[in-house]
Amino acid sequence: MKNPYIENIKYFTSTKDALHYVGGIPEVTSHTLKSLKAQGLQPYHTLLDVGAGCFRMHTVIDYLNQGHYFAIEGNSSLVNQGLDYLKEKGVDKVPIYTVNQDFEIGLLEEPYFDFVLISGVVCHMTDDEIEHMFSKLFQFTAHHTKVIVTFIDNNTVDKNFRGTPYTHLKTFLPDEYESTLISYYHPRGLKMMMITRTINSA
Ligand SMILES: C[S@@+](CC[C@H](N)C(=O)[O-])C[C@H]1O[C@@H](n2cnc3c(N)ncnc32)[C@H](O)[C@@H]1O
Repeated sequence: MKNPYIENIKYFTSTKDALHYVGGIPEVTSHTLKSLKAQGLQPYHTLLDVGAGCFRMHTVIDYLNQGHYFAIEGNSSLVNQGLDYLKEKGVDKVPIYTVNQDFEIGLLEEPYFDFVLISGVVCHMTDDEIEHMFSKLFQFTAHHTKVIVTFIDNNTVDKNFRGTPYTHLKTFLPDEYESTLISYYHPRGLKMMMITRTINSA
């Protein structure tokens, strides 16, 4: 079974509908940028946005130098609306993206990323999908890469959201990775964790 975003690909004709579909709450972008900066994000860093949707993270895109924001997203219609959304927001930076549902990050032709953002994605995924995503992703992380993930820290299971407590999420990490909870505000109470390689890993 796949998550609803991939099992039932929807088509959008307006940025408003696309934004609503990825969760609304446009101010999430500023809360996210604040947390990323607190972890050291600088404009010259590269960042991969996994499940980027309709580029709700426009302030992150605008903050980074041109050519430093990369995205992978499974729904081409969301991406197309996202390009319009960036224009509406006055962002003249152009994302480097690929539309792909199997985390084929190599298509972006970037050997590794300084930061990876996975926002509002794992709460729609099954355990198998989370495991699969991490296994693909960790091929593109270097020792200094910071993987930032938002999640719901309880066992809620409903039509739209799946709680994946921190203690459970940590079990998906290979031995050479470690994680920590980091500061983040989300109006619906999502939490944020940062995954890095352990200092002694090969
Ligand atoms: C709730 S939305 C969040 C979008 C964006 N990260 C944000 O915060 O605005 C979840 C996104 O993950 C994408 N997604 C889910 N599974 C995916 C997969 N296997 N490959 C690529 N994208 C995926 C969905 O298409 C959707 O755009």
